[in-house]
Amino acid sequence: MRILAIETSCDETSMALVDMGINDSSQINMTIHGHFTASQAQYHAQFGGVFPAMAKLEHIKACLPLTHTIFAESKISIPEDKWININLNVDQIENINKILHREIELASGLVQFCKTESFPKIDLIAVTNGPGLEPALYVGINFARALSEIMNVPVVGANHMLGHLYSSILPTDTMHENILLKDIPNHAIALLVSGGHTELIEILGGPTSRYKLLGATVDDAVGEAYDKVARLMGLGYPGGPLVAKLAQEKRERPKTLETSNYKLETIKLPRPMLHSKNYDFSYSGLKTAVMYYLRDNPIKNEDDKLALAYEFEEAAIEVLVKKTTKAIDESGADTLLVGGGVSANNYLRNQLQKSGEENNFTVHFPLQSLTGDNALMIALASGIEYLNKEIIDQKDTIKANGMLSVA
Ligand code: KG4
Ligand code: ZN
Repeated sequence: MRILAIETSCDETSMALVDMGINDSSQINMTIHGHFTASQAQYHAQFGGVFPAMAKLEHIKACLPLTHTIFAESKISIPEDKWININLNVDQIENINKILHREIELASGLVQFCKTESFPKIDLIAVTNGPGLEPALYVGINFARALSEIMNVPVVGANHMLGHLYSSILPTDTMHENILLKDIPNHAIALLVSGGHTELIEILGGPTSRYKLLGATVDDAVGEAYDKVARLMGLGYPGGPLVAKLAQEKRERPKTLETSNYKLETIKLPRPMLHSKNYDFSYSGLKTAVMYYLRDNPIKNEDDKLALAYEFEEAAIEVLVKKTTKAIDESGADTLLVGGGVSANNYLRNQLQKSGEENNFTVHFPLQSLTGDNALMIALASGIEYLNKEIIDQKDTIKANGMLSVA
């Protein structure tokens, strides 16, 4: 099954073109023809967060150049006779204009695009329909519907969080062709950690999975807490990697070099909901504790910065690891899948790996390059779903749902 996947839920525009199939041993294989992500993060940095109207405009601008890029990349691996030239008729042009009436500059660009580019024959267009920013999601959805009109291919919606969930089943040591995916576990826990989500999900039943949301943040997501703490400390955006880098420097630094005015043992930040009986999280209190700490103890030098970043990360990650381990233990699952932007964090990876060794569960992480938002994970999640399920075209029914959940 050849899938074109589109992701525009937040501040990355991403497209992927892949083949997915099942071999005689029921293993899923994948060939990646093209995959490209255009990030807008630099435009949003001045606002310290994603600005929805700007995100929408940047997605509109990126759609056609990205399509061109992944088509060009795919020409290497998709044979010439699998490409078609498109001659749009008047009805199709009218439908494209209707579908893209809110992205009208994209409509005219797309009609022009059809005159100069050939299109690969594909079986399915998968587009993220939530969760995320609805104005941003609609750019991808409407672009997918317009492509479906042109290519006469069904469109289906994909859940962004299932994309993050399945991003870790791609093996790490692969080239682009004939990749054998890791087996999809029959019973697993997923820890999804990003700028908008902190979720523990139970996966039951392998590829035809049922998902159960065990717990989620009741306020800020863990990535959001990293970003807010970075802002309080005067670092840049997105702040997660910057705070993590400082914390890591502190961890690796010989104690003899310390010149900090901060007495590390006196910075004791809370571990919110560490001992709560459920699987929920809370990160807004931790951020507020950092705010008060900084008010009373302004940063005087680089070492102070390192010490505060370190204690924040210890607190944030201790809760994630303890709750995830508890979910594994109480559910009886033997596998952990980790995904989302914060899964790039090496300390989180080390701590989860350590817990896996101590408590006998296997942990899968995505490639570093697939921790952020990307369309390859959308292709993966959709392929896994529709290799096992009949495709029903959603071209005329698909809607964005900013709060879409997995269960
Ligand atoms: O999944 P993602 O790219 O976008 C959302 O769907 O939100 O996640 C972005 C989040 C941001 O909050 C960013 O600061 C955080 O992931 N992040 C990190 C690291 N790399 C990215 N947080 C902690 N440590 C990191 N190394
Ligand atoms: Zn995401």
